[in-house]
Amino acid sequence: MSNTIIAPSILAADFANLQRDIEMINQSQADWFHIDIMDGVFVPNISFGMPVLEAITKHAKKTIDVHLMIIDPDRYIKTFADLGANILSVHYEACNHLHRTIQAIKAEGMKAGVVLNPHTNVDLLEDLISDIDLVCIMSVNPGFGGQSFIENSYTKIEKLKAMISRKNASTLIEVDGGVTNKNAAQLVAAGADVLVAGNFVFKAENPTQTIADLKQLTSK
Ligand code: DX5
Ligand code: ZN
Repeated sequence: MSNTIIAPSILAADFANLQRDIEMINQSQADWFHIDIMDGVFVPNISFGMPVLEAITKHAKKTIDVHLMIIDPDRYIKTFADLGANILSVHYEACNHLHRTIQAIKAEGMKAGVVLNPHTNVDLLEDLISDIDLVCIMSVNPGFGGQSFIENSYTKIEKLKAMISRKNASTLIEVDGGVTNKNAAQLVAAGADVLVAGNFVFKAENPTQTIADLKQLTSK
C-alpha cells in the first residue's frame, strides 16, 4: 500500500500566525510544505518572497516544495537552493530553454519540477519527461487560492500517467488547485501522486484532521 503525498499550500495559511500554522503541519500527517512564489508578472498576484521563505524553512521540518510563478526563473535557482528548497518547480510557459533550466535546478542539488497551466498540453513534455522529477498539473489558473477545480484535469493526469509509464520514468504527478475531499480519491485514481491543498486545509475547522482525512481518503 502506497500513500499519496499531501502538500498543504502555505498561501492559505494565516500569515500573522505563520509559525503556528507551520507547527500544525509539522505535527500533522502532511508530507510536504507547498510554497507559492508569485511575481505579479507571470501571474496577476504577488504572494511573498525570499525573507518569508527563509522564516518558513527555519521552522518547517518536512520537504519544501517550491512552486515558482515567475518569469525567467533561471535568475533565482541558486537563491532558492540556498534558502532550503528541496523541490523547485518552474512553469513550462515561463521557460524558453526548459531542458537547461531542469539541469540547472538539479545541479543545485534540488529535485526539478515542471508546472503546466490548464491550457498547456501534457504531450509537450514527451521529450523531457525522463529528466523531470515532478510534473505539476494546475487544476486552476495560477495566481490565487480558493478557486474551483477544472474538470479537464483528470484527462490530463491520465494522459501524463500513461506517458510516464510508457517512458518507464519515475516522475511524480502533482495536482494543484481546488483539491478537496470531493475530488481527491478520483485524482489519485487518475494517477496523481501528490495533492496540494490550500483553502481546503487552512479554512477547515480542524486542519490537522482534514489532512488526516485526505491522507486516509487517498491511500491506495
Ligand atoms: C495557485 C497556487 C496553489 C494554491 C492552491 O496559484 O499554485 O498552490 O495555493 O490553493 P487552493 O487549494 O485553495 O486552490
Ligand atoms: Zn502552487
